Amino acid sequence: MDPDKNVSAQTPDWSREVVQKFWDPGPKLLRAIRRYQAACARGGVLGKVRSKYWALNHLFWSVITQSEIHLNCQIEGGLRLTHPTGIIIHPDAKIGPNCMIFHQVTLAGPVVLGGHVDVGAGAKLLGPLSVGNHARIGANAVVTGDVGEGATMVGIPARAL
Ligand SMILES: CC(C)(COP(=O)(O)OP(=O)(O)OC[C@H]1O[C@@H](n2cnc3c(N)ncnc32)[C@H](O)[C@@H]1OP(=O)(O)O)[C@@H](O)C(=O)NCCC(=O)NCCS
Repeated sequence: MDPDKNVSAQTPDWSREVVQKFWDPGPKLLRAIRRYQAACARGGVLGKVRSKYWALNHLFWSVITQSEIHLNCQIEGGLRLTHPTGIIIHPDAKIGPNCMIFHQVTLAGPVVLGGHVDVGAGAKLLGPLSVGNHARIGANAVVTGDVGEGATMVGIPARAL
């Protein structure tokens, strides 16, 4: 997890999402969501056909990763899914630019992540709540309330380090 505040909390770094190889489940799952949303926004017959294709593609990578990241989630650019397994993200969650989410993370309900928020393996965030920019959520933490900018939260229930 990267406490480096040089990573922007505002400007998406799209290079963080680039598909590197054929078998690259995290970036490919995200790409399906991006392309689906672009196709829906485009509209028309072509948009409809493309959206169906990307919805199927999303289903494939969802099964592979055993993750549920809804097709209509609001996710800003630069999201890293480093070990993409068992990630559950509620449709009402919002994710800011340049976040990182490890495996087995749950964003339950309307959770709003700011920019450059890193969420450690197994953490559960039980909304409604919001997390400030550059915050870090420790592995296996259970977060039940708002988290301030730059905070590091650990434990159950999570407390600031
Ligand atoms: C929360 C985290 C970012 C803190 O990192 P850090 O600032 O370097 O903190 P330290 O390792 O110095 O630990 C500080 C204290 O917090 C405790 N702590 C650290 N992480 C913790 C966690 N996830 N849960 C409970 N306590 C934790 C340490 O035991 C230590 O306690 P002490 O002061 O009583 O000795 C990091 O420990 C973490 O959980 N990262 C997640 C990484 C991850 O999920 N990786 C997946 C790789 S596959």
